[in-house]
Amino acid sequence: MIRVYENEDITKFYVEFRPRFQQCVVERVLKFCNEHQENDNQDLIVDVACGSGQATSAFQKHFKRILGIDVSPNQIKQARSANEHDNIKYEVGTAENIPLEESSVDLLVSATACHRFDLGKFFTEAKRVMKPNGCMALFCYNAPIIIPKNVKDPAKRQELSDKTTSLLLKYDYFVNDEQSNVSYHCKYQDIFNKVSAENKQWITEGLVMKCEWNLVQLMGYFRSVAAYHEYMKMMKEEHKDASEEEVKEWDHAVLLRDFVKREWEMEGVKDEDVMMEAHFHVYMVLANKLK
Ligand SMILES: C[S@@+](CC[C@H](N)C(=O)[O-])C[C@H]1O[C@@H](n2cnc3c(N)ncnc32)[C@H](O)[C@@H]1O
Repeated sequence: MIRVYENEDITKFYVEFRPRFQQCVVERVLKFCNEHQENDNQDLIVDVACGSGQATSAFQKHFKRILGIDVSPNQIKQARSANEHDNIKYEVGTAENIPLEESSVDLLVSATACHRFDLGKFFTEAKRVMKPNGCMALFCYNAPIIIPKNVKDPAKRQELSDKTTSLLLKYDYFVNDEQSNVSYHCKYQDIFNKVSAENKQWITEGLVMKCEWNLVQLMGYFRSVAAYHEYMKMMKEEHKDASEEEVKEWDHAVLLRDFVKREWEMEGVKDEDVMMEAHFHVYMVLANKLK
């Protein structure tokens, strides 16, 4: 199992800067459940690899009981301290060994995570804990599209958006593992193909979460990405004697920030006043009655 969301550094960025899933995503999942489940099955939902609760809390008002599990004790610690709801509980647990009874779950969700699971074991475990007519929703987003605000000329705005988004994507893909890269690239088509269920759907269009951000938030998001931490660890091991100035030359966070300030012509502006929209395009695999 690849353990990349373990230390307190990354989990602090995660809870503060990762987007919470918006209602468009929740509604799409619930629409599928309503179409395939005869009864009003809204007792128990489990969020597998919940991080600090980015999807868990989004479903809060729709289910009586909600359990978020994650392999990382630090993610669970952050999730618990950010939790404001009595019907949500968080526990350490894995996708391959879910701490729930057989046939107990109405809806199993997993956000931005299942590309890292042992999928064979996870599907067996999902089938065990889900009620026979239960639903599963696996969803994810890639690096967001960044659109600068306060750039009046539409052509210039588009050009800066393209350049900034490409840089973010390039850094995001830098050291991700092979399986994650394949799944990101095909928007979970590979995972859709592996799901064995009576009913299933693959959604790649129409689910966009829009966030109003400043440069501090963009940098916070960037520092919550495992690829960034893996890359920095690798570079620091390779360049053990590097000075602070030398580190800045290859630190992707510094390079990204410098790029935005320079290319957007915002060098004299405070980071919190450099405004942008971040658009997360969500893709999703929905399934009912796993086989
Ligand atoms: C990118 S984060 C996603 C967190 C949250 N669901 C979200 O959408 O923001 C991936 C999470 O998966 C967890 N994880 C990875 N493999 C896991 C596994 N086999 N079982 C449980 N959690 C796992 C990591 O600890 C991490 O918190």
